[in-house]
Parts: sequence; C-alpha cells; structure tokens
Amino acid sequence: MQPLGVVEGIVSQGKKIGRTLGVPTANLPLPPEEGRPENGIWVAEVSFPEEGGAAHEAVLSQGFHPTLPEGGPTVEVYLLDFREDLYGRRIRVSYLHYIRPEIRFDSREALREMMQRDIAIARGWFRARAAGRPLLRELAGGFYRQGYNCAEALLRGIDAYAGLGLSGEALRLAAGFGGGMGCGDVCGALTGAVMGLSALAVKDRAHNTPGFSELCAQWVESFRRNLGGTLCAELKPRYKTAEQGCLDTVLRAADSFENYVLASGISL
Ligand SMILES: Cc1cc2nc3c(=O)[nH]c(=O)nc-3n(C[C@H](O)[C@H](O)[C@H](O)COP(=O)(O)O)c2cc1C
Repeated sequence: MQPLGVVEGIVSQGKKIGRTLGVPTANLPLPPEEGRPENGIWVAEVSFPEEGGAAHEAVLSQGFHPTLPEGGPTVEVYLLDFREDLYGRRIRVSYLHYIRPEIRFDSREALREMMQRDIAIARGWFRARAAGRPLLRELAGGFYRQGYNCAEALLRGIDAYAGLGLSGEALRLAAGFGGGMGCGDVCGALTGAVMGLSALAVKDRAHNTPGFSELCAQWVESFRRNLGGTLCAELKPRYKTAEQGCLDTVLRAADSFENYVLASGISL
C-alpha cells in the first residue's frame, strides 16, 4: 500500500522519558508543514535507507506531546519488538494508518495506558494486513463514493470488513440515519457504525448481551475524541467539502471504528 506520508532523518536524543513509560522512542525533528501528515498517533513502518534490510513495524506520535511538553514538536517513533540503539542512525518512517489525535493526560499512568492501547492497535493492524484483510476506510469510502450516504457507507463497510453477511433488508435500515437523520443531529457515520457494532456483538437483543451498552459508550467516546464531536451540524463545517461531501468524515469514522475494534478485541 502507498504510505500516507514519509519522513526521513537522523535519530536524535529525546527527553528519555519514553523508556520510563516502557516505550523508548527514536526522535526526529518535525518536518516542514508542507506535505506533512496530520499530527497525532499513527501506525508506521521504519526502514534504514543507508543500511538496507526489511522494514520494521512501529507506532509513532507526531506533534507537541502536550502531557510532557518540554522540548519542541517532534516525531517520536517506537519500533515494536526492536531493541537496537537507534541514536545517530538515519531512518525512513512511512505513515500507514491514523490512530488518534494527541491528548493532554492528567497523569503519566493515563498516558502509559493509552500508549499500550496504541501498540495493541498497531499489532492488530499489522496482523490484519498480513491476513490480507482490506482496510475499513477503503470499504466504507468505496460505498460512499458509489453514492450511499454516510450511515449506509459505514454499515455496508463494516458488513464487508467483518464478513457479517447482512441482508439487503438489514442494510436498508441505515438509510434514515444519514446527514444526522436529515436534520444535522447525531452523525450518520457514528450511528451507521453503531448498527454495525450491534450486528457484530449482539446475538438476539441488547439486554441479553452483557457489557453491550459499555461497548457502545466506548465507541461513541472514541468517535468524539477522534473527530472532535458527534453532531452532524458541528462536524460538517470541519470536514465537509463541495467536491467530496462527507467523504473525509466517513474515512475518519472508518479509521476510528477499525481502531476501536482492534483495541477492544471484538472477534471478527
Ligand atoms: C504511541 C505513542 C503515543 C503517544 N501519545 C501521546 C499523547 O496522546 N499525548 C502526549 O502528550 N504524548 C504522547 N506521546 C508522547 C510521549 O509523551 C513521549 O513519548 C514522551 O514524552 C517521551 O518522550 P522522549 O522520547 O523524548 O523521552 C506518545 C508517544 C507514543 C510513542
């Protein structure tokens, strides 16, 4: 797959706090703004252009690291299952999949827990890639481009992603949720995914599915954190364009839902 961005540079000394959080990172200066991927946490791949060899699985944080803000903005890369010293070596970092924006945490423990969640998402994402599973953003984005609305695109995307085999009748039920139920209320990409989550997690009814309302609440919280709100009327000014409509919202919702599924260990 084509990376969503590439950054190259010589690894410098960071604050060395990452290692105390169990996640030692290789630091690069933030590249110039033009063409730079969005700040946030990403699944990435790292190669050594001067040394050759295979690319290594990684996760990175790009931006201002607001919880421990000392030092300038950086790209901090954590290589999974890799113990060599990286200081002074040239690395090429390919951005593969967006996980979430940076968050200012109240404690190092909360940051540490979220970093472990990011690492679990990255591992799940690489496993899915190795198994040849398509990305949810490609499936849901494909349906949106075919003319389905935001809610339909998410439900159909999740149906294809998880091999749910939903009937045409079931898929049709998403229609009325598009455009925040036609009146700018709760985003259809969010509610379409709630329908997908119901199909994934519920056997016959919610009240016979322990923990289901918590699962829904966690999904809504992930969506809110990643998109900055849950209402169609507040998301449209941010993400809707004349040329592409709400495609950006659909892709962001798809990435968020895929991360949520990978982190919560829902079996597909
Ligand atoms: C996967 C990952 C996720 C991170 N998420 C955040 C975050 O949400 N908020 C934040 O303030 N810093 C975040 N960071 C940055 C850490 O705060 C940073 O690694 C720490 O400040 C250690 O920096 P050092 O490598 O210079 O020692 C993240 C880093 C990684 C590797």
